[in-house]
Amino acid sequence: MRLRLGLSFALLGIFACGEANDRSHKHVSRNMFTKAELRKKSKRNQRAVARSSARCGECHGAYERTWKASSHAKAATSPYFRASANGDGRCAPCHTPLVGEIADDDPIHEEGVTCDACHSIIEVNDDAPSPGLIFDLTASIKYGPLCDSEGSYFHRSGCSPLHSKSRLCAGCHSLEWPSPNGEMLPVITDFDEWSAKGGRGATCQDCHMSGTPGEVARGFATREKISRHDLFGADEELLRASINLRASLRTGEEGSRDLEVTLTNRGALHSIPAGLAGRRFVLSINFIDIEGRSVGQAARVYARILVDAQGREVFFTEARALREDNRLHPGERRMERFRIPPSTTIAKVRLERFALAPEVAARLGLAVPQGSLVHRTDVIIESDNP
Ligand code: HEC
Ligand code: HEC
Ligand code: HEC
Ligand code: HEC
Ligand code: HEC
Repeated sequence: MRLRLGLSFALLGIFACGEANDRSHKHVSRNMFTKAELRKKSKRNQRAVARSSARCGECHGAYERTWKASSHAKAATSPYFRASANGDGRCAPCHTPLVGEIADDDPIHEEGVTCDACHSIIEVNDDAPSPGLIFDLTASIKYGPLCDSEGSYFHRSGCSPLHSKSRLCAGCHSLEWPSPNGEMLPVITDFDEWSAKGGRGATCQDCHMSGTPGEVARGFATREKISRHDLFGADEELLRASINLRASLRTGEEGSRDLEVTLTNRGALHSIPAGLAGRRFVLSINFIDIEGRSVGQAARVYARILVDAQGREVFFTEARALREDNRLHPGERRMERFRIPPSTTIAKVRLERFALAPEVAARLGLAVPQGSLVHRTDVIIESDNP
């Protein structure tokens, strides 16, 4: 409920904190950090120290709990990541962002996008290869949105307006990958799509980090907003609020009976499904007769699909070309028509989200991906020959 309110405020454009004045943000992963560059960075940051999320949780328990449930906490350990990265160092700058800043064998790298990764960022460099994050891990300052906070004996607070801007997310949430023939393939474009809307209106944080009043640190005064740290992931409520599904009967050409399904991206200021190429929504229809038997099926897939030389869908590191991108753009309404087979009495309509395609999962040795239900509806169809 809380979230839904947040989303409808966003849609009404109540958020005035846009970023229209920010420089346009171009991220190219053409040359990821080389080992030598990483070493140079780590020399500069010799006294850098990062603390585990458990340490932060001693005073910020609610944050630790919610962050743990998010995909940020699994960025280094999710089965999908492990299977696809296979030790590839080019993934580290975003999935284990403190690599190169602190010792390679620090267990904190297993925590993925951990507290100290985000709360030590002081700048996102547009001109550097993505993610272009610049950290300050030397002074025991935690950077965040509170500008009247003194922090504690454990750390000081650093007033950082950057933390309330989409730019903070931009570095990691923009990824292009070179194909073997040198073409740059779009892999993650949430930030670019959001900026293409002019960067006005709701920020990433407005929708993905809505908040409620509470104590920021145990025993300290109640503040207006504790920013949620768990909406980084396939959240069902967020998903359901983002997309509208309507199904109704129509008369087609030559008097045929059609089912019309309309999908609208009403919730997000970026295309959906968002995130990594290969994420998909599957709209499926099962036409059922009076005996409960299936008399026909139909499906549509909405995704950005990268393919290899044979035209098969593959993970982005193996891709040669972009085959198609039919995701729903912000505000877009998509209408689909299906011919209803004779003797249908009910059309069962489902919209599900899948993290990846079954073929891609099989090639990576992963289990068959399970869908999560976004919407379902049954449409009753009157028989034409009673
Ligand atoms: C240091 C890099 C980094 C920063 C900064 C970052 N992210 Fe992420 N984000 C990631 C990675 C990596 C993942 C994927 C984790 C996984 O599932 O393996 C991710 C996952 C997500 C997901 C879930 C995607 C899914 O399909 O499950 C959302 C939503 C998200 N981030 C939003 C944000 C927002 C909003 C911000 C800014 C406030 C942000 N991120 C900042 C790296 C980052
Ligand atoms: C000993 C308790 C304690 C520990 C441990 C602790 N913090 Fe804090 N933190 C505080 C207090 C107190 C505040 C200020 C609360 C206030 O002003 O309402 C704070 C504020 C913050 C802020 C807000 C800063 C701002 O200016 O917006 C961030 C971000 C933060 N902490 C992150 C962390 C991280 C990350 C860790 C773990 C590395 C951590 N904290 C560990 C006590 C702690
Ligand atoms: C993906 C980046 C990211 C990670 C990981 C992350 N935070 Fe935050 N955090 C933010 C952002 C962005 C804000 C400010 C949100 C805003 O201004 O709307 C914030 C706000 C805060 C605040 C300030 C008060 C508030 O609620 O706005 C504290 C304290 C804090 N985070 C603690 C933590 C702790 C503890 C962890 C780990 C358990 C953590 N954060 C992990 C990005 C992150
Ligand atoms: C107006 C609200 C809104 C704004 C602003 C917004 N998002 Fe989203 N975002 C959503 C909704 C709703 C979804 C769920 C749809 C989905 O999963 O595809 C979503 C999904 C995502 C996902 C995929 C999560 C998943 O479940 O697959 C990522 C990653 C993401 N957003 C990142 C961002 C980033 C980065 C920004 C800022 C540049 C941003 N979003 C701005 C509403 C928003
Ligand atoms: C520029 C930053 C960046 C780089 C570099 C990067 N990623 Fe990611 N990755 C992200 C973000 C942001 C997400 C979250 C989007 C989403 O989950 O849909 C993500 C999500 C993923 C996911 C989905 C995880 C899950 O559990 O669902 C996989 C798998 C993945 N990346 C693999 C890789 C591999 C392999 C590499 C290196 C070859 C790599 N990434 C390099 C930023 C990056």
